[in-house]
Amino acid sequence: MALTIGVDIGGTKIAAGVVDEDGQIVAHLLRPTPAENPDQVAHTIGEAVLELAKDREIEAVGLGAAGFVDETRSIVRFAPNLAWREEPLQKKVSDLVGLPVVVENDANAMAWGEARFGAGRGETHLVCVTVGTGIGGGLVFEGSLYRGRWGMGAELGHMQVVPEGRPCGCGNLGCWEQYASGSALVNEARIIAEADPGRAATLLKIAGTPDQIEGQEITDAARQGDSAALAAFASIGRWIGQGLADLAAVLDPGCFILGGGVSRASDLWIDEARDSFATQLSGRGHRPLADIRPAELGASAGLVGAADLARRR
Ligand code: BGC
Ligand code: NA
Ligand code: ZN
Repeated sequence: MALTIGVDIGGTKIAAGVVDEDGQIVAHLLRPTPAENPDQVAHTIGEAVLELAKDREIEAVGLGAAGFVDETRSIVRFAPNLAWREEPLQKKVSDLVGLPVVVENDANAMAWGEARFGAGRGETHLVCVTVGTGIGGGLVFEGSLYRGRWGMGAELGHMQVVPEGRPCGCGNLGCWEQYASGSALVNEARIIAEADPGRAATLLKIAGTPDQIEGQEITDAARQGDSAALAAFASIGRWIGQGLADLAAVLDPGCFILGGGVSRASDLWIDEARDSFATQLSGRGHRPLADIRPAELGASAGLVGAADLARRR
């Protein structure tokens, strides 16, 4: 059976896996991401691929990268939250591994993985939103991934939701990912804990000081009923639902799939997202509500999708 390798390049970890035609992971490995050094990132990917390809026949390699990938699927032109600028990732990695390589946007790869093998199976019009450090998007319509004219479609995290709002890594103000991502969750929880420590008693007991609060602490505290942690999740849920309503106005999908790190705790905010979606959707009452559901493939969606896209290159 033909095998391909998929690589998901995250801000902290690089996950690589050998994937078969049914989306099953045959072998995989994890490496820390060498922060802020594009050459070392390419090198780490190359080494991981070579290790996985040893004693196996590999057809091609797909890389999921968190940034604006050009239409030839070779160059990461820009990454709001990483150091890539006009980065020739395809060339660097294919020179190292001697195999065909395609570069995909990380959220596009994830959307494709979910559409083919996860929560989106059988859907004809799906929009995938990844809620992690940033917000990514992927659109799969009638069996094909929508990339836009220049490869940079579905940058959903950079829709402006607040005029003159919080500064974003992309250079603009008020982007959706500044209000509804994992970073926004942490931000929100820290602000509440700072202003009203009594309300965040459990959260602060777990984390220490407000600036030691991270996503995991917020999740743990929320599960113990901490009011600040629950409020931070509710805020994320409201912002997500509002953004999905805007997306439905443009795209009218049958379903939204929510993936990414923050979605692993989606039970803490998905109801809020559904409520705010339903109350803000234009034309509500006169149209079906798109289903809003969590992703199924978890942390491996991106690499599985990237591997499958490489197979279809
Ligand atoms: C980037 C996207 C990426 C998303 C999720 C955003 O900030 O612009 O390219 O897909 O984060 O990683
Ligand atoms: Na995308
Ligand atoms: Zn932005």
